[in-house]
This record gives sequence, C-alpha cells and structure tokens, in this order.
Amino acid sequence: MTPVVITADDAGLDLAAERLRAGELVAFPTETVYGLGADATDDKAVAAIFAAKGRPHFNPLIVHVPDLAAARRLGRFTPLAEKLAAAFWPGALSIVVPRAEDCPLSLLVSAGLDSVAIRVPAHPLAHEVLVRTGRPVAAPSANPSGAVSATTAGHVAHSFADLPGDLRMTILDGGACAVGLESAVVDACGKTATLLRAGGIADEDIEAVTGNLLVADNDDTAPKSPGMLSRHYAPTTPLRLGADGARPGEALLGFGAAPEGTRWNLSPTGDLREAAANLFAMLRALDAEGHAGIAVMAVPERGLGRAMNDRLRRAATPAE
Ligand code: TXA
Ligand code: MG
Repeated sequence: MTPVVITADDAGLDLAAERLRAGELVAFPTETVYGLGADATDDKAVAAIFAAKGRPHFNPLIVHVPDLAAARRLGRFTPLAEKLAAAFWPGALSIVVPRAEDCPLSLLVSAGLDSVAIRVPAHPLAHEVLVRTGRPVAAPSANPSGAVSATTAGHVAHSFADLPGDLRMTILDGGACAVGLESAVVDACGKTATLLRAGGIADEDIEAVTGNLLVADNDDTAPKSPGMLSRHYAPTTPLRLGADGARPGEALLGFGAAPEGTRWNLSPTGDLREAAANLFAMLRALDAEGHAGIAVMAVPERGLGRAMNDRLRRAATPAE
C-alpha cells in the first residue's frame, strides 16, 4: 500500500491522533527529522514500525511524550536525567533512563534492554499530535532501516512508496524540519552522562550541563546504542569524504567556499546549522540524480559538524 499524505490542519491533527490510537502508523514532523510513529503501549503497533522500516529487532526506539510529567511515568528520572530535561526539553535530546517499575510501554520499544530512550520534541505539530493522542508515541526516523532520514513529508512518502503487506501509513505534512539531524542520545541511567549518538544538540552544549560527558564507542559487536551500526544514513550512491572537488562522474556536495559551478552547497557561508538542516535533503537529491559518486567537501569537527561527520562517515561505509 502507498502512504496517505494529509495536511496538518485541525482536522488532520485529529485524524493523525485517531489513527495512532487505533494502532496505525503515522509519520509526523519533529524539529529534528520526521518520525514514524505508533502507539508505544501497543505491541502490534510497535511491531508494525519494525516491519515497515525493515529494522533489526535489537534496535530500540525513542518514545515521544508532550512533557516531562508524561516522561516521568515511563522512566525513572535520575538526578542527571532531570538536569538534562530541564536544560534541553522540549528539544533535540533523547534521554535514556531505566524503565519505570510499572512502565506501560511495550517491551519491544526497549528491544530487550531495561532502559528506554525518551524525548519531548519542540515542534508545535509534534506536540499537538502527542497531546491529542494522549499516549506515548514510539517514533524512529521515518526512513527504511539504514537509509537517509527524512526531513520533508515528500521524503517519507518516497521512502515508503511500496509498503510491505497490509501495512497502512498516514503522513502528516508539516513542512521541512528545522534542525535536520536526529536528536542527540544521552544515557543518563547512572551518575555520569554518556553520549550514545551525537545529534541536533552539540556535544559542547550537553557537556556544559553535565560537566562530564563520556562518548560511547559504538562498534557493531556490542553497540551501546544499537542503532549506531557502521553503515547507516546511507544513499545508494557511493560517497567520498573530504573532497576538494568532483572527479569525473562525481557530483560535488560543497561546504563553505566551493569550486565555481558547484550546484549543491550545504552552506556557502560555512554555517553549521544551515548545513545540518540541508544535509539529508541534499544527499537525497544528489542520490536521485544518479551520479557514479558523491564527493563531499570537509565539514569542520565542531558543534553540529561532529554529528554531521558521524552521519557522513556511516553513509560512506561501503555496503557489505
Ligand atoms: O531525532 C530523532 O531522534 C528522531 C525523531 C523522530 O525523534 N528519531 C530517531 O530515532 O532518530 P531512530 O530510531 O532512528 O534512532 C534512535 C536511536 C538509535 O540509535 C537507538 O539505538 C537509540 O536511539 N536508542 C533507542 N533506545 C535506546 C536505549 N534504550 N538505549 C540505548 N540507545 C537507544
Ligand atoms: Mg534512524
């Protein structure tokens, strides 16, 4: 089946909430990327997310709630988690906490772990969907597992044009996502914060709040954040990183001052926020043009640039 795209007006928001409550898949915008949502308390609904994405079952999902009070009903908020929530919610941070004793969430969202990743998104439409649904909503990025995340409703529709089996999907069109990179994921189960995935809030900003910030080394054999597989976020066209220019057959994805005639530039002025917001959309556009390769100019390893480089490195890892 093909997904149905609906406008995010009052009626559309009601329909999205109604379908979520009925156990259906609803993709909706957040400030980071589009999420592929389902009722996080409903095993069958959560299983449908894994089926639609082709996502490995060992990879847990982020649960979205409208506010901190709702989050505290799902997870045990350690002092560290409270501090992070106070500083960054609503926003582009997912906080991993131990599941609450009477946690109503499907066990599938945690993929066998005794923790859960929770986020309060800042996007007003996401907030409205969550309030109207009245239940926690599990939502990974709305893309097939391993592919480039979606920052527009069109990307989502394109990615899931051919839904497996009898799956139904509704896409709430709320325009383009402002941040463009997935949330940062921080483990706050204990006393020390561990960055599991760099993302839409810069490491430096998180560290300013937590004091100390360990960085998980995500290898494929024992990933702490199981989503951090070495090949991920990948277009089908091979990527070459740190390029100064395009070689024959390649298209150049610029950053900052690029060679004359460069059609795609993440940010001509070298602005990392602008570049992050453009990254996935430009990778998708270049992928669709069907070049032999995509050459990407160097992005500085600071602020959001670190999260961008993380995505680019994974995207550049050759398929097995
Ligand atoms: O911005 C975002 O985070 C978007 C929007 C929709 O909220 N969601 C997103 O979800 O990117 P997803 O599923 O593509 O990535 C979730 C990441 C994965 O790397 C997963 O392994 C990790 O969070 N994660 C989820 N639950 C976890 C847990 N309990 N412990 C450790 N890592 C967890
Ligand atoms: Mg993802």
